[in-house]
Amino acid sequence: MLELSKGAEAIIYKSGNKIIKERIKKSYRIHELDVKLRKYRTKIEAKLLNEARRVGVNTPRILEIKDFSIVMEFINGKKVKDILNKISPEEREAISFEIGKNIGKLHAYGIVHGDLTTSNMILSKGKVFFIDFGLGFFSKRIEDLATDLSVLKESLKATHYKYLNEIWNKIIEGYKISNPQWKEVLAHLKKVETRGRYIKRN
Ligand SMILES: Nc1ncnc2c1ncn2[C@@H]1O[C@H](COP(=O)(O)OP(=O)(O)O)[C@@H](O)[C@H]1O
Ligand SMILES: [Mg+2]
Repeated sequence: MLELSKGAEAIIYKSGNKIIKERIKKSYRIHELDVKLRKYRTKIEAKLLNEARRVGVNTPRILEIKDFSIVMEFINGKKVKDILNKISPEEREAISFEIGKNIGKLHAYGIVHGDLTTSNMILSKGKVFFIDFGLGFFSKRIEDLATDLSVLKESLKATHYKYLNEIWNKIIEGYKISNPQWKEVLAHLKKVETRGRYIKRN
C-alpha cells in the first residue's frame, strides 16, 4: 500500500485502483470519545458520498466501510486545483459551470460538503468528481448552504485569484440551474460575506 497523503484527520492509501481513507486517532481526545467520533465521521462520510452519487453528483464508488476507514474507487485524474489556472478560458468556464451545477445539486438535496475547495475535486475523463466529504453533513438550512459556498469562494481567492471573477460567475450560473433555492442562498451568502469583512475590520 502506498501512502498518498496524510492530513489532520485521515491518511489516504492507494492499493491498485482502490483508495483507503483511514481516520486517525487523535491522542488529545479521551479514547472512548475518539473511537465514537471517528466511527461516526466515517459512517457519515460514506453516507454522504453515496447520497451525492444517488442524486447525480460524481463521487468515488464505495467498496467497503469499516469502523475507521472507507475503501473506495480510485479516481484517476487531476486535481482541479492543479489544472484550473492552466487550461483555456473556455475549458475553465465549462469546468466552473460544472462545479456550480454539482454543488447546486448537492444543496438541493440537503447535502453540505463542508470543505469545498478545488483540492477536493478531481477532473477525470472530462467529468468533475467530488471527494472528501469528511466535514460534510445533511442540512437544508440556508445558512449552512451559504456557508458551504463561502468556504469555496474564500479558497478560490487563495488558489485561483487571477481568474476569480470568471470562475465564480460560472459557478453561480451553474448553481442557479440546479438549486431552486438559489436566491435565498445567494442573498444569505452576501450577509455572510459582509459579516466576514466586519469581523476582519474590527
Ligand atoms: N477516491 C480518490 N481517488 C483519487 N484520489 C483520491 C481519492 N480520495 C482521496 N484522494 C487523494 O487524497 C487526497 C486527500 O484525500 P481527502 O479525502 O481529501 O482527505 P483529507 O481530509 O486529508 O483532505 C486528495 O486530495 C486526493 O489527492
Ligand atoms: Mg481533502
